[in-house]
Amino acid sequence: MTETKSSPRRLISPSLLSADFTQLAQQIELVERAGATRLHLDIMDGHFVPNITFGPFIVAAIRKAAGSHLDVHLMIEQPHRYLQQFVEAGADTVIVHAEASDDLSRDLEAIHDLGAQAGVALNPDTPFAQIEPCLDAIDYVLIMSVYPGFGGQNFIDSALTNMVHAVQARSPDGYLVAVDGGVNLTTVEQVFDTGVDMAIVGSGLFGADDIPGRLKELQG
Ligand code: DX5
Ligand code: ZN
Repeated sequence: MTETKSSPRRLISPSLLSADFTQLAQQIELVERAGATRLHLDIMDGHFVPNITFGPFIVAAIRKAAGSHLDVHLMIEQPHRYLQQFVEAGADTVIVHAEASDDLSRDLEAIHDLGAQAGVALNPDTPFAQIEPCLDAIDYVLIMSVYPGFGGQNFIDSALTNMVHAVQARSPDGYLVAVDGGVNLTTVEQVFDTGVDMAIVGSGLFGADDIPGRLKELQG
């Protein structure tokens, strides 16, 4: 199943970073049966962010277990080195950080040439204006509401400004706007009040006793 950028609003995308990796296939099945159609995969290299997660090999395993659209969030330096590997592993959308790419236009074009959708992530202190020259080449804008690296951090309110700018700057058939970090039952309403399409939720979903019930609550 594939969600496109013209999908209905108020999507919740589970971040597998907070899933139980000893039973990943079951956790994926659980959230997909509850209605999730896009899964968020956090790739960390220990350089761009202080944490290390997983690479294309695990993405390929997730691809086999999941029917969802896979959004692969690359928190790695010089992401152009790995774009092909992640698309071949099964990424539907590849998201690079504006702060980590040394040539954003080149990277977006490379992702498209590989046949995937192209996303750009912005750290909380990176102004939205930094990516405005590239907006025509962007399918997905990921507004970070924590400094990337770890799940379970507190939502940073000042990121709401980037959310509003991202929503205001797009044309009717423009990019999808998603928010990543610290989204939970307490913060989800203010996120969607800005007009964004999708919230990524990790600990606020997989930390629940009733994961399908929590997903439905977050969807509102
Ligand atoms: C943060 C990651 C997020 C993370 C969100 O570096 O990019 O996707 O998994 O986790 P929560 O929802 O727990 O803040
Ligand atoms: Zn992420």
